[in-house]
Amino acid sequence: MKKITISADLAVYENNAELPDDVQKLMQEAIDAREKSYSPYSQFKVGAAILLENGEVVTGSNQENASYPAGLCAERTAIFYAGAKYPNTRILKMALTARSEKQEVAVPTPPCGSCRQAIAEYEVKQDQPIEIFFMGEKGKVVKAQSVSDLLPLIFDSTYL
Ligand code: THU
Repeated sequence: MKKITISADLAVYENNAELPDDVQKLMQEAIDAREKSYSPYSQFKVGAAILLENGEVVTGSNQENASYPAGLCAERTAIFYAGAKYPNTRILKMALTARSEKQEVAVPTPPCGSCRQAIAEYEVKQDQPIEIFFMGEKGKVVKAQSVSDLLPLIFDSTYL
């Protein structure tokens, strides 16, 4: 038996203003998208903005449903739209933000496991890492260089 250690280096920015200019802009697009969230059940609003290599920005927000599992997270709404509209264009980075109508969200809110898996599919497809920046509604912003830093041991098509 031998042990394997899995680790990741994440960068933590004190706030939005500390981010590079292009990421601040992307985060603002995520904030705008977040406010368009359809989330009457959770009252938890999530916004995602994706920067593509052609300079286009694709955004999405969580879309809920009275039949709860039929809803979709912001990250997948955005990345599926990017994949559908620009199937051959690489994704460079994603900015994510969350806000609740019930309490202040001052901690960085990472993408859920299903969204990490969905993002991983595109990262493997394009053979280039996707940078992910995530925050709450205020406060610190975390940067992952790749979705594999958030989802080690990714299940991908090589296992099929
Ligand atoms: N949600 C997202 O949009 N992204 C995540 O990564 C986590 C959760 C949404 C789903 C649901 O509409 C609400 O947040 C509460 O879970």
